[in-house]
Amino acid sequence: MHHGDPNDDGQDPKEKINYKATFRLLAGLISTRKGPFLLAFVYMASATLLNLFIPMIAKFVIDTAIPGKDPKALLLAAAVYIVTTLLFLYFNYLQVLQLAKAGQDLIVDLKQRILTHILSLDLEFYSSMPVGRLNARVQSDTSTLYALFTNTVITIVNDALMFGVVFCVMAFFNLKLTLMLVPMFPVLALLGWVFVTVTSPMFVKVRKIAAEIPGFLTEQFNGIGVLQAFSREADTAAKMEELNRRKFTADINVEIYTVVFFLSIVFLHPASTAAVFHYGGRMVIDNKMTVGVILLFVMYLGNLFEPIFRFSEHLSVIQRSFSAGHRIAKILALRPALTEPAKPHYLTSVRDSIDFRNVWMRYKEDSGWVLKDVSFKLPRGKSLAILGETGGGKTTVTSLLFRFYDFQKGHIEIDGTDIRSLSLGSLRAAIGLVQQDIYLFPGTVMDNLKLMDTSIPDNRVHDAIRLMGIEGFFKKHPLDKKVQEKGANLSIGEKQVISLARAMVLDQEVLVLDEATSNMDPHTERLITTAIKNLLRHKTVIIIAHRLSTVRNADRVMMISGGEVKELGTHDELLAQGGLYSKYYRLQFGEGG
Ligand SMILES: Nc1ncnc2c1ncn2[C@@H]1O[C@H](COP(=O)(O)OP(=O)(O)O)[C@@H](O)[C@H]1O
Ligand SMILES: [Mg+2]
Repeated sequence: MHHGDPNDDGQDPKEKINYKATFRLLAGLISTRKGPFLLAFVYMASATLLNLFIPMIAKFVIDTAIPGKDPKALLLAAAVYIVTTLLFLYFNYLQVLQLAKAGQDLIVDLKQRILTHILSLDLEFYSSMPVGRLNARVQSDTSTLYALFTNTVITIVNDALMFGVVFCVMAFFNLKLTLMLVPMFPVLALLGWVFVTVTSPMFVKVRKIAAEIPGFLTEQFNGIGVLQAFSREADTAAKMEELNRRKFTADINVEIYTVVFFLSIVFLHPASTAAVFHYGGRMVIDNKMTVGVILLFVMYLGNLFEPIFRFSEHLSVIQRSFSAGHRIAKILALRPALTEPAKPHYLTSVRDSIDFRNVWMRYKEDSGWVLKDVSFKLPRGKSLAILGETGGGKTTVTSLLFRFYDFQKGHIEIDGTDIRSLSLGSLRAAIGLVQQDIYLFPGTVMDNLKLMDTSIPDNRVHDAIRLMGIEGFFKKHPLDKKVQEKGANLSIGEKQVISLARAMVLDQEVLVLDEATSNMDPHTERLITTAIKNLLRHKTVIIIAHRLSTVRNADRVMMISGGEVKELGTHDELLAQGGLYSKYYRLQFGEGG
C-alpha cells in the first residue's frame, strides 16, 4: 500500500532482519558485562527459588502441623513464611537495582559508540539520513535494547528455570497428577503459534505507522512557515487525522487478537486448577494423596502460568529489539569513505602554497565530471577569488581542499605534500570555512564566535573584531546577546558577519569564504568588504563571490564554467583580456549604475 514511503523509518517489512549480525551485536554487548548480568541473574534466581518454597510451607501446615496438633510447628511455619517472604523481597530489590545499573551502563556505552561512529561518517551519510531518523537511532532504538537487557533476557532464562523447577517439584510430590496436566502444553503451543503467525505482520504495520507519524510531524513543523503562508494548515490536519485513524485501526486489530489470545491462556489456568480439584480430590478420597498436596498444586499452577502470561510481552520486546538492533548494526557497519591515512603527515602550517594540478572530480562513478582539469596555485598569504555560474563547480573545488570528498585524477598538494597523506584533523584545523548557509548554535554571540571552545580567551575575540574593523556591528549585537536555536533571532546577513568574525577568531591560516557575503544589505556589505580587505591582508584566502566589489580585492581571479577553468589572472589582466570576466564586470556595473 505505502511502498517506498519516505517516512517508513527504514522498516521495510520485506527487508529481512540480519539476525546473525544483530545477534552478534547483542551478544557482544552482553559479553563485555558478564559479571554484572550474572550477579543480577543470581539475585533473580534466588528470589524465584525462595518463592517456590512457600507452597511447601503451606503443605507442611496442612499435612503435618495441623494433624499433629502442634502449635510450636505452626509458629515455626509462620516464622519461616515471613522470613522467606522478606528475603524474597530483598533479593527482588537487589535484582532490580543490579539490572538497572548493568543495563544503563551498557546503553550509555552503546549510545556513545553509535554517536562517535555517526560523527565520523561522511557528509554523504548525513544527506541521506534525516535528522529525525538519526535521533531515533540514538534514542529510541537504544531504549528498546535497554528493555531487552534489563528485563527480557534475564526474565526469560529465569522463567524457563522456574518452569522446570516447578514441574520437577510437582512431579516429585505426585507424578500421576502432574502428568494429567501435560495435555495443556500442546494446546498452549498451538495457541502461541497461531497468535505469532497471525499478529506478526500486524505488529510490523503498527510500528510502520507509528514511525510515520513523528516523521510527518517533524516535516510539517519544519515547514510551518510555508504552510501558514499558503494557508495549508487544514490539509496537514486532515493528513494527520488520516494517519491517526490508520494507526487506531491497526492498533485495535492487534488488540483484539492479543486479548483473545490472552483470555484463552487465562482460561487454561482455571481449567487445570479444576482438573487438580477433581482428580486430586479423588486421590485424597482414595487415600492416595494428602490434602496439602492439592494446595501445593494449586499454588504451583499460579507459578507455572506466570511465565506463560509474561511470554507474550517478551515476544513483542524481542521482535522490536531485533529490528532496533538490526538498524543499529547497519549503521555501525557503515565505513566512512574518507579516512585518516595510515601514516599521516601533520600539517602544522602552510609555508609555501596550495597547489591544484589537473584535478578531475565526479561525485559518482556513473555521473559526469564536475571538475575537469582544474589547475591553480595559491601562494601563502595571497588570495584567490572564484567566479562562475551556479553549479559551475566552485563549491566542489573548496570541498576537495577540506577532503569532504576525494578527487579521481590529478594532484592537490600543500607545500608539495599530497593532501591525501595529510592527517584529516590537522588539514581541517588549518582551514576555516564560512558558508552561505550558516549554522549558529544556541548560546551567546561570544560562545558562537569561539565555536563553544571555552579555552579561547575573550581578548582574542576583541582583537579579531578590531582587526576586521567591525566594532560597530558588535555594538548593535553585544557579545553577550543570546542566540536562539538555529540563530532564529538574527538575519542571514547578521549571521554571515558573525561567522566571518568566527573564522578570524579561530585563527586558521587558510580561509574559504563560500558566498559568505551573498545575503547582505548594502550597508552590511560595505562593513564586511572592509572586514574582508583586512582579512585578506592577514590570511591565505579562497573567496567565492558574485559581488565584484569583493572580488576586486583578491590577488587573483579564477573564472570557472562547466567545471573548467576559463580564465585565471589578476583583475586587471582579465579585464584587459575582454573575455568572460570583463563581460561579467560590465554586466554588474551596468546594472548597478
Ligand atoms: N554532493 C553532491 N552530490 C552530487 N552532485 C553534486 C553534489 N554537490 C554538487 N553536485 C553537483 O556538482 C555540480 C557543481 O556543484 P557546485 O560545486 O556546488 O557548484 P557551485 O558552487 O559553483 O554553484 C552541480 O552540477 C551540482 O549539481
Ligand atoms: Mg556553491
